Amino acid sequence: MTVMLDAKNNIKNFAEKESNKGVVYNTKDLNLWYGEGHALKNINLPIYENEVTAIIGPSGCGKSTYIKTLNRMVELVPGVRISGQILYRERNIFDKDYKVEDLRTRVGMVFQKPNPFPKSIYENIAYGPKIHGIKNKKILDEIVEQSLRGAAIWDEVKDRLHQNAYGLSGGQQQRICMARCLAIEPDVILMDEPTSALDPISTLKVEELVQELKKNYSIIIVTHNMQQAARISDKTAFFLSGEVIEYADTDKIFSTPSDKRTEDYITGRFG
Ligand SMILES: Nc1ncnc2c1ncn2[C@@H]1O[C@H](COP(=O)(O)OP(=O)(O)OP(=O)(O)O)[C@@H](O)[C@H]1O
Ligand SMILES: [Mg+2]
Repeated sequence: MTVMLDAKNNIKNFAEKESNKGVVYNTKDLNLWYGEGHALKNINLPIYENEVTAIIGPSGCGKSTYIKTLNRMVELVPGVRISGQILYRERNIFDKDYKVEDLRTRVGMVFQKPNPFPKSIYENIAYGPKIHGIKNKKILDEIVEQSLRGAAIWDEVKDRLHQNAYGLSGGQQQRICMARCLAIEPDVILMDEPTSALDPISTLKVEELVQELKKNYSIIIVTHNMQQAARISDKTAFFLSGEVIEYADTDKIFSTPSDKRTEDYITGRFG
């Protein structure tokens, strides 16, 4: 209990110290149950804008659950119960009158396995903007090009925009999914182990891209790869059994973690 309180106070102090920076998300006393299973326990976590926040922790600790809660996707699971608050741009996303569609247009998500639509590269990117009512071909062309450029894949696909996205490599497909995400001009990008199905070179490309994208977006990335978290994130939250054990600057977490459990995890002693 003392440890838990300490963690909570650390996070609170941290949040106050950094309060001059824009906070995109603020999670307050969040609990989540899948039926009887208590998957998230008293989570308190700020997420800052134009930063990369890494979520790390062993399998089953609640990383995916947490990021799926940030865009309310987790509510699609039957029997989910949630208490506490998640403020997105200072509004509680669980408020009765909060429109989940509004949230999803502000918060994009990239999954572990690239999941392009079985359509052309062009249609994959134009799909979201079309749903939002953009019909003008010139504007759509522009959005497609800018999004593909933004995801660092334009040069590789510009001559085959009307071919099926399934014909691309896994790494290319993942960048198409990132471009699809950018096409709706999100504010936040959630990524759940976006490189775990990719080879080292594609992984590096996605990592470089994340670094580039944080200039304009706030990014939350779940990763099992400690080097990756250390390389690309500004802040790191270490989850264990549904709790945030430690949250701090990434440099601090990886050089002088405050909690023994964090140290054990990052040095590979468990998980
Ligand atoms: N749809 C579901 N129904 C019931 N329990 C679930 C569901 N999804 C996840 N859980 C449980 O919630 C806990 C957290 O799962 P979650 O998928 O968030 O973990 P994770 O940290 O993302 O793990 P991994 O690293 O393996 O992806 C686990 O105990 C898991 O079994
Ligand atoms: Mg997961």
